[in-house]
Amino acid sequence: MRTHHCNQLRESHIGQTVTLIGWVNSARDHGGVIFIDLRDREGLTQCVFRPEENPLDASLSHTLREEDVVQVAGRVALRLEGSGNTRIPTGAIEIVVTALRIVNKADVLPFQLDKELSNEDMRMKYRYLDLRRARMSRNIRQRHTITSAARRYLDDAGFYEVETPILSNPTPEGARDFLVPSRLNPGRFYALPQAPQQYKQLLMVAGLEKYFQIARCFRDEDLRADRQPEFTQIDIEASFIGQNDIITLVEGLLVAMFKAGLDVDVAKNFPQLTYREAMDTYGSDKPDTRYDMKIIDLADIFAATEFKIFRGTLDGGGVVRAINAKGFAGITTGQMNRLNEIAIQAGLPVKTLAFIKCEGGEYKSPLWKIFTGTEKEAIISKLAIEEGDIVFFGAGAIDTVSTILGRVRTEIASMMELTKNSTAFNFLWVVDFPLLAFDEESGGWGAVHHPFTRPHPDDIHLLESGEYAKVRAVAYDVVLNGYELGGGSIRIHEKDLQAQMFQVLGVGPEEQQIKFGHLLDAFRFGAPPHGGLALGLDRIAMLIAGEDSIREVIAFPKNNKGADLMSHSPCQIETKHLREVYVQSTWKG
Ligand code: AMO
Repeated sequence: MRTHHCNQLRESHIGQTVTLIGWVNSARDHGGVIFIDLRDREGLTQCVFRPEENPLDASLSHTLREEDVVQVAGRVALRLEGSGNTRIPTGAIEIVVTALRIVNKADVLPFQLDKELSNEDMRMKYRYLDLRRARMSRNIRQRHTITSAARRYLDDAGFYEVETPILSNPTPEGARDFLVPSRLNPGRFYALPQAPQQYKQLLMVAGLEKYFQIARCFRDEDLRADRQPEFTQIDIEASFIGQNDIITLVEGLLVAMFKAGLDVDVAKNFPQLTYREAMDTYGSDKPDTRYDMKIIDLADIFAATEFKIFRGTLDGGGVVRAINAKGFAGITTGQMNRLNEIAIQAGLPVKTLAFIKCEGGEYKSPLWKIFTGTEKEAIISKLAIEEGDIVFFGAGAIDTVSTILGRVRTEIASMMELTKNSTAFNFLWVVDFPLLAFDEESGGWGAVHHPFTRPHPDDIHLLESGEYAKVRAVAYDVVLNGYELGGGSIRIHEKDLQAQMFQVLGVGPEEQQIKFGHLLDAFRFGAPPHGGLALGLDRIAMLIAGEDSIREVIAFPKNNKGADLMSHSPCQIETKHLREVYVQSTWKG
């Protein structure tokens, strides 16, 4: 239906007869002569309807409205002197239209495509129109580009792309499962995969050696800007490799994706932090290192303090730590309240964070009069406190203090807009995660990554002696600018160790057989050592596009209640259909 696309014609085409088709992006009447910008996926071309060329079509052109689909034939001409548009690549030329065909008229749109729209519900309801907007169209294209680059990279590295079932069994990744009733098996359900974890390990037992999949995953969990109920992983697994092999492979992959998507050259050899270092320094296992504001330990200063709270904390095995928010002494009361709220949510046992600010050459703080001269000097020097700074303290159990100061650090960075104009991509690895964490709610131990993760070889004896909190895992996360992009581990490939791990997690032999018998069985028949990782493709696409929600890089995302406002999913199902799958609703709403 066309000879060229709308971003193709240049001065070198002048004089040629062409046919274009697309949407009327805008129409203008200049003294009876209609100009339109015709748009297709690739860009815009100006078309002009001169009555002397074709009076009938010129008069028809007066009926054109935005988003009508039209086909035009005409001559490529140089735009009149001074009327060129340097902002678009086709800006030097225009099409003098000799034939117009209105292919499909458009109704008035529910919103304008060239304006940012804050009403998210409207955007979602008419997502197909929202996707016509330049920004969204760019995001979708960019996502395609980086996905293709990932496929090419992994193919070049010898990985096979394999699809694994969507109708499957529960696999523990820390969220709830979405369930699908089985008509052919009354009373039984499939679970949608939270990740293809077990299948990819079974593919290693199958001898594939190198697997990847652009895999759709489903997790019924609370949604956030970087979390959707269904999302996409670049899922990877390989045999006969160690942690460093995976790290090298994934760094190369990310470099290739950022080159393809943004034409930036990311440097390999990302810094590595142990989990302990990350928590101690940034109070987060996905630290944003584009700004400093490190957590500083003050145990040496307060070891012998008279200040009872700090002394008591330290004597009781806790920590006293602080962060210096440089230049933030002008914090408003509203901001201070917000920080206190965040700290309380993170476990602060009192109502307000202890702080010191340095303003007008004075140190202002309820604590200041309590500290001795030596303590004051030491604090000032260790935290490098200068005019205009504000320091926040945390005292208590190490994990609680890390979490509090970590969240406060992130919030201050956002209040101070520390990363607003940053173009930096601060990749890093967090390694040596703990294998297990105690879950207060269930009163048992849970896997920090997942139950298939290998204990650190130096810590196996701690697993045996029951010192679970100290066992490290051979697990690693890749982080970018405060986002967890991906996570993985080297796996357990021995039946007995896997059974032992399940046992620690409170899954007894019988339950192991029911839920994971297939995996334990597979490990009996020569399972190779293996490991892998999964990257969140949506998050990578979001960061490459410079967006702050993954909804902006997913064609048809769900809202924060997990609903699709366009297709009205989830929807009610007729009782007849429910009966067919042996489901009875107890919902009385
Ligand atoms: P994990 O659970 O860490 O690991 O997930 C890997 C990556 O997937 C992305 N991600 C999400 N993205 C959007 N919405 C969500 N709800 C969501 N949940 C996770 C994140 C995360 O880093 N099977 C293991 C991987 C492995 O061990 O190989 C797994 O799924 O970017």
